[in-house]
Amino acid sequence: MTGGCLLAGVIGWPVAHSLSPRLHGFWLGAYGIDGAYVPLAVKPEDLGAAVRALPKLGFQGANVTVPHKQAVMAHLDRVDPLARRIGAVNTLVVDDDGAIEGQNTDAFGFMENLKDSAPDWSAESAPAVVVGAGGAARAVIVGLLDAGAPAVRLVNRTRARAEELAATLDDPRIETVDWTARAGTLEGAGLVVNTTTLGMSGNPPLDLDLTGLAPEAVVTDIVYTPLETPLLKAAKAQGLKTVDGLGMLIHQARPGFAAWFGRAPEVTPDLRATLLQALGAKAE
Ligand code: ATR
Repeated sequence: MTGGCLLAGVIGWPVAHSLSPRLHGFWLGAYGIDGAYVPLAVKPEDLGAAVRALPKLGFQGANVTVPHKQAVMAHLDRVDPLARRIGAVNTLVVDDDGAIEGQNTDAFGFMENLKDSAPDWSAESAPAVVVGAGGAARAVIVGLLDAGAPAVRLVNRTRARAEELAATLDDPRIETVDWTARAGTLEGAGLVVNTTTLGMSGNPPLDLDLTGLAPEAVVTDIVYTPLETPLLKAAKAQGLKTVDGLGMLIHQARPGFAAWFGRAPEVTPDLRATLLQALGAKAE
């Protein structure tokens, strides 16, 4: 690092669990970039002051994570249309005039991960089933709709929340399905996505019978702790193609890195291995 080092970081509370410093640190090291990406532990009540300080401190920008992705929007100079539609911001970019723009790269990360890990799958060819209606689901659904999915079947324990999400996205291709009817909705689907916290270490698994899925369907989980969730394990056992959630985390980081540090980064097996090692170390 020199005095001219480019700065970025991740704003969260808590933030110690975040893999982003390792992820960006890996790329900075691999490309020999004079830059730093640091964890920024910011309490909810300090969010506005911290965000407004970024340009003053010379930051190129930052990622924003739990619990600030929605609240941060009130403190920005601009929010790009995609982030506005998703209703959340995960990437801040400071421009030459010091203005802060909010972007959302989660939909991009989700779709790029599928492109990378399941190249034979295509969004246009069959309906997708999305389980969950929280913030992560919104990004996933927008990604699928923009990629031309003929239908998105949205299943959530609390149906009213699914209906609310469908109403705000206002796209006739979104169909809400009752939680009790979730297994039936897999018929003819080309993709199943778990966006809930079910299956994450310490949580119960997602109870979803996959036997009605077509053999060419892909099953993916945004949870990556563990990497192979019970859902992915069941899908594999049935011979289905699976895509884990770590790739989404990696791919969503690409646009921010490029904007802050001036180089489009690559997703390599070495990077994945580094992050897996970090996850393993944390689980101990
Ligand atoms: P995020 O914004 O990260 O997606 P969230 O807003 O807390 O997180 O959403 C969590 C999702 O997991 C929701 O869809 C939630 O369902 P409800 O809307 O019914 O709460 C779902 N979820 C969490 N625990 C669940 C459980 N035990 N069974 C079914 N769904 C669950």
